[in-house]
Amino acid sequence: MDNQEKIYYCDPVFRPPSEGNSLLIQLTEGCTYHCDFCMSNLRKNFKIRLVDDVKRDLDIGARSKYSSSVRKLFFLDGNAMVTPIEKLLELTTYAMKKFPNLERVGVYAHAKDILKKSDDDLKALSDAGLKIAYVGFESGSDELLEMVHKNATKMDFINASKKLMKADIILSATFINGLGGADNESVSKTHALESADLVNKICPDDERIWYIAFLSLMVPPGTVIYEKKMRNEFKEMNSYEILLELKLFIETINFTNKFANCIFRSNHASNYLALSGLLERDKSKILNQIDYGLKNKSILKPEHYRAL
Ligand SMILES: C[S@@+](CC[C@H](N)C(=O)[O-])C[C@H]1O[C@@H](n2cnc3c(N)ncnc32)[C@H](O)[C@@H]1O
Ligand code: SF4
Repeated sequence: MDNQEKIYYCDPVFRPPSEGNSLLIQLTEGCTYHCDFCMSNLRKNFKIRLVDDVKRDLDIGARSKYSSSVRKLFFLDGNAMVTPIEKLLELTTYAMKKFPNLERVGVYAHAKDILKKSDDDLKALSDAGLKIAYVGFESGSDELLEMVHKNATKMDFINASKKLMKADIILSATFINGLGGADNESVSKTHALESADLVNKICPDDERIWYIAFLSLMVPPGTVIYEKKMRNEFKEMNSYEILLELKLFIETINFTNKFANCIFRSNHASNYLALSGLLERDKSKILNQIDYGLKNKSILKPEHYRAL
């Protein structure tokens, strides 16, 4: 590709780790929400790009010699689900036509923007090729969600998850360990218990695959949570407290569907201890690993290796 053939990116871009090998296409820039912990808006003014500009980038990708190896495509940025349905549908359909071996399109999706779309809209997106939505739950505790200005409630997450599942869009949800900060035992306990209750409540009664991941709080400069930390109004949890919180979450998982295929991961760059397994079938294995980490600090990731 020559210079004029470059796909446009507004850096830094935001994508899930699992979309690292996907073709990334900038559909939106930044985010319409302002969660206290998030960097999505720090250097960007929110924008939904013009359909023709996005199509131009898809055309460039399709002309590349690698186009036949594109199997996954992710529409950037922090919350592309905010895009009006007609536009999102048109671009998903266009992408699926352009890449012969494209299997799925993915987006980040704030719960409120899922809820704003009708069941028919979501089904149309799914039929067109949008097959996975990454939703930031962060917590099942309404008190904590309000504290960090998430702009969504536990009930929103339950309803949004059910809508996605009804449309056959895979749910991949993330929580943040340590979100309530240190010296806040009751907030941490509620965070763990309510998050597990949320996961228990959205568990489908079939064997479809869905994903739950735990990240551990990072405090990036420029965020509201960073400013609070600088003013000594917020203190980060240590690795021990974070593992205890995660332990309580795992202990509280209790699915009525014993054949559920909930893939659990806590192996992000921000995590102290890499964990993964199936919920709740691998519950005792995961709990044993957490207990081992609690007793052996030396196996935990050193603070300076943690990243977002
Ligand atoms: C770029 S955001 C997109 C999520 C989507 N906009 C939503 O709100 O549903 C991806 C996820 O990264 C995680 N994340 C963002 N900032 C973080 C931080 N400072 N520490 C740990 N995790 C963070 C949160 O779980 C967040 O939902
Ligand atoms: S977590 Fe999601 S909704 Fe909140 S600011 Fe970041 S990208 Fe936007």
